[in-house]
Amino acid sequence: MNNNFDVIVIGSGPGGYVCAIRSAQLGLKTACVEVEKTLGGTCLNVGCIPSKSLLNSSEMYHKAQKEFEKLGIETSEIKLNLSKMMNNKKKSVLTLTKGIEFLFKKNKVTHLKGKGLIESKDTVTVIDSLGKKNQYKAKNIVIGTGSVSVSLPGIKIDEKNIVSSTGAISFEKVPKDLVVIGGGYIGLELSSVWKRLGSNVTVIEFLDHIIPGMDKDISSEFQKILSKQGINFRLNSKVTEIKTVKAKTLVGFTDNKSNKKEKIECDKVLVAVGRKANIGKDLFDLGIKLDTQKKIEVNKKFQTSLKNIYAIGDVINKGPMLAHKAEDEGIAVAEIIANQAGHVNYDVIPSVIYTSPEVAMVGETEEQLKKKNIRYKVGKFPFLANSRAKVNNETEGFVKIIADEKTDKVLGVSIISSVAGTLIAELALAMEFGASSEDIARTCHAHPTHSEAIKEAALAVDKRPIHF
Ligand code: NAI
Repeated sequence: MNNNFDVIVIGSGPGGYVCAIRSAQLGLKTACVEVEKTLGGTCLNVGCIPSKSLLNSSEMYHKAQKEFEKLGIETSEIKLNLSKMMNNKKKSVLTLTKGIEFLFKKNKVTHLKGKGLIESKDTVTVIDSLGKKNQYKAKNIVIGTGSVSVSLPGIKIDEKNIVSSTGAISFEKVPKDLVVIGGGYIGLELSSVWKRLGSNVTVIEFLDHIIPGMDKDISSEFQKILSKQGINFRLNSKVTEIKTVKAKTLVGFTDNKSNKKEKIECDKVLVAVGRKANIGKDLFDLGIKLDTQKKIEVNKKFQTSLKNIYAIGDVINKGPMLAHKAEDEGIAVAEIIANQAGHVNYDVIPSVIYTSPEVAMVGETEEQLKKKNIRYKVGKFPFLANSRAKVNNETEGFVKIIADEKTDKVLGVSIISSVAGTLIAELALAMEFGASSEDIARTCHAHPTHSEAIKEAALAVDKRPIHF
């Protein structure tokens, strides 16, 4: 094999593999290095995909137990077979990781198996599982090595009793009592899974609200819904220690306001307090600049301080740590390398929490606009008044559209709904095209669909909703 490439991408997560495919499509000789056995990175192997499989299966289980009867569907005993549920998850992951292998072959991307180290600005060494080293030359190198979970000071994740998301998607039996540290994306999605499968779940969150960065309106409504589902919340609380005594674990925390110390006994603890860039020492040796959060600094063209070395996804200091943000950056970098006009619009990156109901956001929140002194109008419409949501018994939540007071341009949207993750795409597209709320209000939306709530919320911006 000729060891010279136009592009070597290090990491095959959503950022890396998409960048490799797009580079190859553009006629660049491309290789992608991956240290794990399967392609796809955290997202496909231990993140988005397996967690969504468990979210879906556990929701089915919950519905079969609690909701079917109301619909006139009578079942005899419903039983959980956790190992079968886990096998179904593994099958989905395998199909998708194999799918990337197929796409690599189809697009003639060379898959280099092993750990990639950047030796110099045009040399990548790949060390395979037997310790054998191979050197490759690249005109351009793209770092897409993603992120790893962080823990709290003095708390060691053993993936048995004290777990990260990786451990929490593979419990062999349903924990009786589960404590989740962190009321963010991972904490709340996995709390939902295990609550539905029978755990008693307590979320301990440092701040006085869940999901920092989310519109406060949505955050408080979302917490009410999750509390109604039986998830316990201890907000404003700082975890100070975790002790394992025989099979039990004790989580000690302090109330930030009263300084009162408390302890909860549980079987498992999930630590979900964020993630950090996964970057190796080789980058420091090369002199690639990092920011104060230890993420790689890049310019508008995703170039690091070494111009032919690019970085994308969770390792860089731009946008949220989300798979689809990384994918778009992967495409942009490939196009920039091929002298095209690659670009990512960071103002329009949707984010979704795949609980039930789902929560989705795009653009600015009221709190962010207030800070920027931007005047705005708000239109809200509840799913309680949406016919499709009503017939489906999915009336929780609402659509909230925020538009500029003068120009009516849509600045941000938040949705709580059973299908919020799907609905948000319409708003992202509208914002990408610079739509006003009037544009959305005048667009015909099919009846009966949840999407009519978007049209109604847009009408509500101008105080003229029809059904509320
Ligand atoms: P996160 O940043 O979403 O939430 C972490 C939470 O932990 C925050 O609410 C924070 O206030 C809290 N926290 C921090 N220190 C604490 C302490 N000492 N005690 C109690 N609470 C504390 O991080 P998370 O959930 O770990 O997710 C990591 C990344 O993965 C996020 O950036 C997220 O965007 C991404 N992700 C996205 C998903 C999606 O798109 N649906 C799903 C899962 C992860």
